[in-house]
Amino acid sequence: MGRSSVILAIVFLIGFCLSAISMATQEDKTTIGIDLGTSSSCVGVYTNDHVEIIPNEQGNRCTPSWVAFTDSDRLIGEPAKNQASLNANRTIFHVKKLIGRKFEDQEVQTLMKVVPYKIVNKDGNPYIQVENQYGETEVFSPGEITAMILTKMKETAEAFLGRRVTEAVVSVPSYFSNEQRQATKDACFIAGLTNVSLIREPMAPYFEHGLHEEEDDGRNILVIDLVDGKCDVTILFVESGTFEYLATARLGGMELNNDLFMGVMKKAMKDSGLKKHQINEIFLVGASTEVQQLVRDYFNGKVELKTSVNPDVTVATGAAILGDYLTKGAGMRPMC
Ligand SMILES: *[C@@H]1O[C@H](CO)[C@@H](O)[C@H](O)[C@H]1NC(C)=O
Ligand SMILES: *[C@@H]1O[C@H](CO)[C@@H](O)[C@H](O)[C@H]1NC(C)=O
Repeated sequence: MGRSSVILAIVFLIGFCLSAISMATQEDKTTIGIDLGTSSSCVGVYTNDHVEIIPNEQGNRCTPSWVAFTDSDRLIGEPAKNQASLNANRTIFHVKKLIGRKFEDQEVQTLMKVVPYKIVNKDGNPYIQVENQYGETEVFSPGEITAMILTKMKETAEAFLGRRVTEAVVSVPSYFSNEQRQATKDACFIAGLTNVSLIREPMAPYFEHGLHEEEDDGRNILVIDLVDGKCDVTILFVESGTFEYLATARLGGMELNNDLFMGVMKKAMKDSGLKKHQINEIFLVGASTEVQQLVRDYFNGKVELKTSVNPDVTVATGAAILGDYLTKGAGMRPMC
């Protein structure tokens, strides 16, 4: 072989390696979207120009955020929830209400009174004390239980994609404190999700509808989330991928009626300091046609209403779309 053909071969080899490396990085760069919910969680991935919500082993799109210990096993998701009545004090749920909180917090004290599993005070933090699958008493932080649920979601995505996943966009409620957000990120890390961006839940409906160029000018958006008995109204200013929270009003733990709903929406509007005509877009998740009409009337029919087709998976869908933007380096700053 002559010198030039050796050089050519080397150049070819380098080129081949480089393209293999770039393919590998492309491959590795799937960012999944996880709706980490209080009652149940969903995972989605943006692929072939749409979001695929990935069903779990039971074929369901949402997995109960439940963990249980039996005499032989640790169960996560449906198997945990299904055996709850027979194994109440070893079945753990609603840990999202504990994560990142102090033992003395009202939310923790309230939860302790209603759940059958044991919550103990360890260095001022709530821990879950449970008899594990080996018959030993063990304490878990809420973050460790959350990590088990996240691991399940990650594995569901990995089985679907046929490869390892380390990057994710994970949802948190808009009211989560820095401690709650950090504890959620730590749980992700334990689950092997080492590169995580958090998305506040009210931003998900916005992403679910995709981005449009005109939004670069800056828009005020109103998000109404009524899924699962929630009533959260959030007003955001969106500009070139940055988000500013102008107001958020919520009502929890009651059966909701029209007057209460209108009260929450009016409070959010008042707190935002905006006039009705300054709202550019309204996103509704889980709103009945009756509520949609109330909103339309309040804004004199002048603002476009965007409703979610599948409210149950809106958060996972929005998170997966944001994940895709982040993978492509679209310069999003979701927590701003
Ligand atoms: C859990 O419940 C079982 C009965 O269902 C009971 O025998 C056991 O003592 C309970 N364990 C704790 C730690 O309360
Ligand atoms: C983390 O993920 C984002 C996309 O989701 C990517 O742009 C960034 O390079 C990743 N960072 C590391 C350290 O892998």
